[in-house]
Amino acid sequence: MASVKLNAPSSHWIGGGRSLNRRFAFRTEIPRAVTIRAGSYTEELLQTAKSIASPGRGILAIDESNATCGKRLASIGLDNTEANRQAYRQLLLTTSGLGEYISGAILFEETLYQSTIDGTKFVDCLRGENIVPGIKVDKGLVPLPGSNNESWCQGFDGLASRCAEYYKQGARFAKWRTVVSIPCGPSALAVKEAAWGLARYAAIAQDNGLVPIVEPEILLDGDHAIERTLEVAENVWAEVFFYLAQNNVVFEGILLKPSMVTPGAEHKEKASPETIAKYTLTMLKRRVPPAVPGIMFLSGGQSEVEATLNLNAMNQSPNPWHVSFSYARALQNTVLKTWKGQPENVETAQKALLIRAKANSMAQLGRYSAEGENDEAKKGMFQKGYTY
Ligand code: 13P
Repeated sequence: MASVKLNAPSSHWIGGGRSLNRRFAFRTEIPRAVTIRAGSYTEELLQTAKSIASPGRGILAIDESNATCGKRLASIGLDNTEANRQAYRQLLLTTSGLGEYISGAILFEETLYQSTIDGTKFVDCLRGENIVPGIKVDKGLVPLPGSNNESWCQGFDGLASRCAEYYKQGARFAKWRTVVSIPCGPSALAVKEAAWGLARYAAIAQDNGLVPIVEPEILLDGDHAIERTLEVAENVWAEVFFYLAQNNVVFEGILLKPSMVTPGAEHKEKASPETIAKYTLTMLKRRVPPAVPGIMFLSGGQSEVEATLNLNAMNQSPNPWHVSFSYARALQNTVLKTWKGQPENVETAQKALLIRAKANSMAQLGRYSAEGENDEAKKGMFQKGYTY
C-alpha cells in the first residue's frame, strides 16, 4: 500500500493518571515524521480514542450476539425476538444522563441499524449523550484445528467493506474478541493465532476510520494460581504487540480490552482487589507501551461489585494510561433483573444502569466505595466456557 510522510508536529492529550486527579495528566507529542498509510484516518482515530478514554468514563458493552442476547432475555422469561432485543437495547440507550459516565457503547450489528420505537436512530441517541457508537466486527469463535481443543476468531471475510459501511452508519470504534484458555494450554499455536488475528483486524479497522478495541480475553476458567495467569497474560500481550507493530497499527489510535489478572475461577483462594490490581498493573507496565491511550477492562464473569472494586484498586496510584471499564455483564445484570421485560419497570431499570455506570465512573477516578451495594450486585456471574 502507498504511504506518506507527514512533517508537521502534532500533539494531543492522552489519559495519563487522570484516575486520581488531573494533576497527573500529561501532554504527549506524536512525532509526525512516521510513515502512515495514505488516506488513513489517523487524526480522527486519535480524537476518537481520546474521547473514549476521557476521565471518569468508560464503555457500555451491549454487543451480545443474537444468540447470547437470547440467553439474557430467557433469564427473565422473554423470547428471543427482534422486538424484545430492540426494547431492551432501547431501555439502555435512551437512559438520560448516561453520557456523564459512559463514553462509548459497543453495539451488535442489528442494534447499529435499529431505532427507538418512535424512530430515533440508536446512533443518534448515543451522539446526543456524547457517547461514541462502536460495533462488534468479529464473527465469533470456532474450533482451531491442530490445537489443544482451543478456538480462533472468525470475521475476516469482507471485514474492510463491513468496517467502511459501519463507519457510514456512525460507528467510530470496533471490537474483536478472541479468547485464550489457560486450562487448554494455551498452545503456542492458539496464542499466535489470537495475536495475529487481532493485529490484522486492528490494521483493517484503522484503515477504515474505526478505533480497534484489541481484546484477547484470557478466560477465568481453571484452578490455577494468579502467578500462572500473569505468566500467560505477559506471553499473550507480548505477541499481540509484536504483531500490532508488524501490521503498522498506530498505537495511539487503539484501545485495549484485557482481562484482569486473577486466579482461575476454580482456584482454592480468592484474591483481594489490591492483589488483582498489583498483578494486573505489573503485567500492563511490562507489556503495554504508554502510547496506548486507554485500557478498558472486561468483567469476565466477576460480580458487578467485584469488577468495580478491582477497577477502583487499579486507580489508587497514577499509571500511564486511562484505566477504565468496558463491561457487559457487570453493567447489565441488575438492570435486566429490574426490568423483567415490563414497560412499567423501564424507569427503575434505567436508574439501576445509572447507579452501576456511576459506580464504575467513580472507580475510574479511584473514588469508589462499595458501601450500600446490594447482595444481588455481589453475585458472581462466572460460567464455564462462556461464549459471547
Ligand atoms: P463482559 O464484561 O461480560 O466480560 O463482556 C465481555 C465483552 O467482550 C463485551 O464486549
